[in-house]
Amino acid sequence: MAIRRSIRFLRRGKVVQLTDLPPMATLLDYLRLEERACGTKEGCGEGDCGACTVALGSLRDGRVVYEPVNSCIQLLGMMDGKEVVAVDDLHVREGGLHPVQRAMVATHGSQCGFCTPGFVMSLFALYHAEGAPDRAQVNDAIAGNLCRCTGYRPIVEAGLKACAGKAGDSYATSAARTAKSLRKLADGKDVFIGNDKSFFAAPASAESLAKLYAAHPDAVLVAGATDVGLWITKQLRSLPKIIHLGRAADLAQITDHGDSITIGAAVTYEAAAESLTAIDADLGELLRRLGSKQVRTAGTVCGNIANGSPIGDTPPALIVLGATVELRSAGGARTLPLEKFFIAYGKQDRQPGEFVASVTVPKLRPNQAFRAFKISKRFDQDISALLGAFCLTLDGSRIADARIAFGGMAPTPKRALLAEAALKGADLTSPSGWDAAIAALDQDFKPIGDHRASAAYRQATARALLTKALHEIAGAPSHSTRITGQREVLHAGAA
Ligand SMILES: Cc1cc2nc3c(=O)[nH]c(=O)nc-3n(C[C@H](O)[C@H](O)[C@H](O)COP(=O)(O)OP(=O)(O)OC[C@H]3O[C@@H](n4cnc5c(N)ncnc54)[C@H](O)[C@@H]3O)c2cc1C
Ligand code: FES
Ligand code: FES
Repeated sequence: MAIRRSIRFLRRGKVVQLTDLPPMATLLDYLRLEERACGTKEGCGEGDCGACTVALGSLRDGRVVYEPVNSCIQLLGMMDGKEVVAVDDLHVREGGLHPVQRAMVATHGSQCGFCTPGFVMSLFALYHAEGAPDRAQVNDAIAGNLCRCTGYRPIVEAGLKACAGKAGDSYATSAARTAKSLRKLADGKDVFIGNDKSFFAAPASAESLAKLYAAHPDAVLVAGATDVGLWITKQLRSLPKIIHLGRAADLAQITDHGDSITIGAAVTYEAAAESLTAIDADLGELLRRLGSKQVRTAGTVCGNIANGSPIGDTPPALIVLGATVELRSAGGARTLPLEKFFIAYGKQDRQPGEFVASVTVPKLRPNQAFRAFKISKRFDQDISALLGAFCLTLDGSRIADARIAFGGMAPTPKRALLAEAALKGADLTSPSGWDAAIAALDQDFKPIGDHRASAAYRQATARALLTKALHEIAGAPSHSTRITGQREVLHAGAA
């Protein structure tokens, strides 16, 4: 496979080619320190505030799509093959204010202005999305942008106003030219910049990745960098060897096998959302509340598994569905049940040179019911205090089989085996028969207390979530126990 020793991306219609690339360089530092494009702000430096938001253009089914990312935790090398749009570009390209900026002015959507470039870029991406967004969609689009002084109502109004019609800015009118340029950048070559001691690499296939990782098992794999980016900006770690997975075309696939789907290691949350939501709406809701749009655009489902976090949102849900992970290396591939991948806190079943190539998620059978509930201090853009996932196999109203897993209750995402056993044979029409299973959760887990939740809160909430799942599956109306959608109800009431 041919190697390219540079990265190339589009800026303001021109190709930027960089041959000398510090592996850990962030996109934000490039914009502010190299280009001196200082409109893009640095706030938290960890993906939380959205002040550094830029839009990335890429080709999807031949069409240019724009998605927001936090430039503070995106590596510069990851920009290969993309169009990078920063707030400073808008007036250059438009010859004045962009429609989104005009709407922000008209609705008084800015006071001190520090957050404004980030909001503008999140709304720029929404402006280019298909269809006019409703209020809930605008709220979702800006859930990863914090404003401490204006208040959100005028900013939401700006989003509704600017994004009501079809995109008509210079990016829309030059979309065909941009698509052509992006196609030219996609040469399918492996990228390697640096030397044996320090490099940024972006292999173009899983095979190239496996070979390179076998030669450098000490390299850090980077998928969406929504964790690794923080190792650089917050932990100030030195990561001399970086292998980015995002250009490996065969890892960027979602394959539908009829009774299951396989999600490759380079598939982002955003790209996986439709297929996972089709399995169950609760998976869609879980993803909608995972991080922010910026985090979901960059972060990957397999990265959420590979990092081994005890509070990752997707593992408990995928475990109860019976998901399996495929691990690959230069020596071959092996598959194991997802729950077996998590051995202990910070320890996963992964050998040197092995990487997570994909996760396969079975679809629900007609006699199965699934629920997943995320508990966090904030509704949007917050890490779970705990997360409960439940999958029941039913024989009429009798529970023939149960799979229950929690995040935040143990050092790893973990099944509640005693509760599962106690639930087998219980009847959905007889709640008193659930008591043993609910009580067994206290034997299954001895959670710790931390700043997110006390041990007692976690224990009590786990019991409540199992009770809630059983009531819902037994037929209780779910809206009475959920706050999902309540924001929209409140807004409708206010209007
Ligand atoms: C602001 C913010 C909000 C967040 N909110 C949430 C949330 O609500 N819920 C939640 O669960 N998480 C949340 N996260 C955490 C984060 O998004 C996830 O853990 C994410 O899934 C990591 O995926 P990634 O592709 O970005 O991984 P990366 O950061 O690229 O990598 C993470 C780790 O996994 C390894 N890795 C990645 N891919 C592979 C692979 N294929 N094989 C082997 N190793 C691999 C890396 O080497 C690294 O150790 C949030 C993060 C941020 C910054
Ligand atoms: S600076 Fe806060 S998200 Fe990047
Ligand atoms: S206008 Fe000041 S932080 Fe938003």
